[in-house]
Amino acid sequence: MGEGSKSKGFFGWFLVLLVMAVIATAIVITVKKKTQHPEPKLGPVPGPPGAVEKKYGDALKLAMQFFDIQKSGKLVDNEISWRGDSALQDGNEAEIDLSKGMYDAGDHMKFGFPMAFTGTVLSWAILEYGDQMQTVNQLKPAQDSLKWITDYLVNAHPLENVLYVQVGDPELDHKCWDRPEAMTMKRPLTQVNASSPGTDVAAETAAALASASLVFKSANSTYSSLLLKHAKELFTFADKHRGSYSESIPEVQNYYNSTGYGDELLWAASWLYHATGDQSYFDYVTGQNGRDFANWGSPTWFSWDNKLAGTQVLLSRISFFGAKGSSNSENLHNYRKTAEAVVCGLLPKSPTATSSRTDSGLIWVSEWNSLQHPVASAFLAVVYSDYLFTSRTSKISCNGDSYGPSDLRKFAISQADYVLGNNPMKMSYLVGYGDKYPEYVHHRGASIPADASTNCSDGWKWLTSTDRNPNVALGGLVGGPFFNETYIDSRNNSMQTEPSTYNGALMVGLLSGLVTTSSVVQSFV
Ligand SMILES: *[C@@H]1O[C@H](CO)[C@@H](O)[C@H](O)[C@H]1NC(C)=O
Ligand SMILES: *[C@@H]1O[C@H](CO)[C@@H](O)[C@H](O)[C@H]1NC(C)=O
Ligand SMILES: *[C@@H]1O[C@H](CO)[C@@H](O)[C@H](O)[C@H]1NC(C)=O
Ligand SMILES: *[C@@H]1O[C@H](CO)[C@@H](O)[C@H](O)[C@H]1NC(C)=O
Ligand SMILES: *[C@@H]1O[C@H](CO)[C@@H](O)[C@H](O)[C@H]1NC(C)=O
Ligand SMILES: *[C@@H]1O[C@H](CO)[C@@H](O)[C@H](O)[C@H]1NC(C)=O
Repeated sequence: MGEGSKSKGFFGWFLVLLVMAVIATAIVITVKKKTQHPEPKLGPVPGPPGAVEKKYGDALKLAMQFFDIQKSGKLVDNEISWRGDSALQDGNEAEIDLSKGMYDAGDHMKFGFPMAFTGTVLSWAILEYGDQMQTVNQLKPAQDSLKWITDYLVNAHPLENVLYVQVGDPELDHKCWDRPEAMTMKRPLTQVNASSPGTDVAAETAAALASASLVFKSANSTYSSLLLKHAKELFTFADKHRGSYSESIPEVQNYYNSTGYGDELLWAASWLYHATGDQSYFDYVTGQNGRDFANWGSPTWFSWDNKLAGTQVLLSRISFFGAKGSSNSENLHNYRKTAEAVVCGLLPKSPTATSSRTDSGLIWVSEWNSLQHPVASAFLAVVYSDYLFTSRTSKISCNGDSYGPSDLRKFAISQADYVLGNNPMKMSYLVGYGDKYPEYVHHRGASIPADASTNCSDGWKWLTSTDRNPNVALGGLVGGPFFNETYIDSRNNSMQTEPSTYNGALMVGLLSGLVTTSSVVQSFV
């Protein structure tokens, strides 16, 4: 159903001063650092591969299954016994095929903004950790799920300046409690275009397609080029016709309200730079648009709404491994310093540690879908840890205190372990993992027996039933605990018990980073 409240929560303005001190110290350190380490080439992992961590491998396999549960359209090789074909007519009213893609969460909406973010994060996870996914046979499933999203996104972009950003009417959809296979409500389409722009959603879609073009580059160059062509057009559309989709189409504010589009523009341009190597995208992020939107020095939380922290980490990749010319940009350095400020805020003992943490150490920012922020933060931390490790940058400075890659990894592990059961409730928030996990997940398909003859209005009895779900939404990462670390396992408690595809992608990213004991960063191209 989406989240009721969210914000680009800042760690706090007081941090700005600390960060400036960090930047000053770091500049000194960087000046001392003489050699640039070239980006490692694709091929055998240099150095011995780390051992597989069974716990994270098992969790990763589970988390990957959730995407199969969320798939819309005509299913291929479906292994989920209680799922079948659905939404085959989606897109018909515009004579396009929008039958694929994924249902957002426990309902049957296709919300383009978070779906594209899911695609971008899944691409990023594959690009950083595809080799690690492969150690537990999860690379192919990850690529298949990503393609299920990108096939949809390509079709949702039929003209240069038209992008369909939603299938279904959330009011109508939420009046029903039914299985996706049995849906009967109308599923209208919503678009952004030149007169009703949606810079945020178009740029996020560009980011998803640009990153995915890298994922599929070696497997199918035709498909990869197609994705890249759409990504470039969408970025141009997003940039030239500026406006938030939340202003063009105010109704979207009730579900996935975008609080600004500058972050998506920088995120999309960063992905396009990685996908093309075209200097103009680099100039875009380091020039005036960077000054306008990047908020250098201010750490932010990474989420479906705000991609700045992700952008900072992604651009650090160039600073660590990129070509000499680009690495020298002062503003590239500002991105890297801000990424370090984000990471410093996460480390529990750092002088700049955020206080947004529960008593047992889980990053905690919002009551709705509370696990999104800790999992997203931990994913960034493990990626950054691997950048440090691979570039042999032994330390970062957090307001004078030094931390190394193992400190970042330790933080990431602490968040993953909390999610998997090391918490006061002694339960796993990843459905199906361990002995105790949510059983009353807010998920329509999981709550209704596959063979029940039921309909939109009659189906509410499955929501209110006191029985646990007849189908297990395996691999779903639910919303998560309250600040006091309690969790009420009740089907109507969507704030805590609803799993979402973007949580799923972030969890897949985190687990992929932890699946082996160490990892060396690979080249994207
Ligand atoms: C452009 O998008 C707006 C908002 O979705 C919509 O109301 C309008 O009909 C669209 N314009 C065209 C020409 O389809
Ligand atoms: C590669 O992608 C193109 C474009 O989507 C598709 O038509 C073709 O079948 C794909 N080839 C293979 C071998 O999958
Ligand atoms: C959506 O976000 C904008 C910009 O942050 C804000 O002004 C508006 O109140 C939000 N809308 C809702 C319904 O929360
Ligand atoms: C839904 O099912 C109930 C119970 O079988 C039935 O009474 C009702 O008429 C059905 N409603 C529709 C719209 O088919
Ligand atoms: C925990 O927090 C929730 C939400 O704020 C509240 O409803 C609940 O009563 C609290 N539980 C305890 C045991 O304090
Ligand atoms: C479920 O929760 C929603 C939102 O809190 C509420 O409006 C609705 O009445 C509840 N439904 C049932 C059947 O308890």
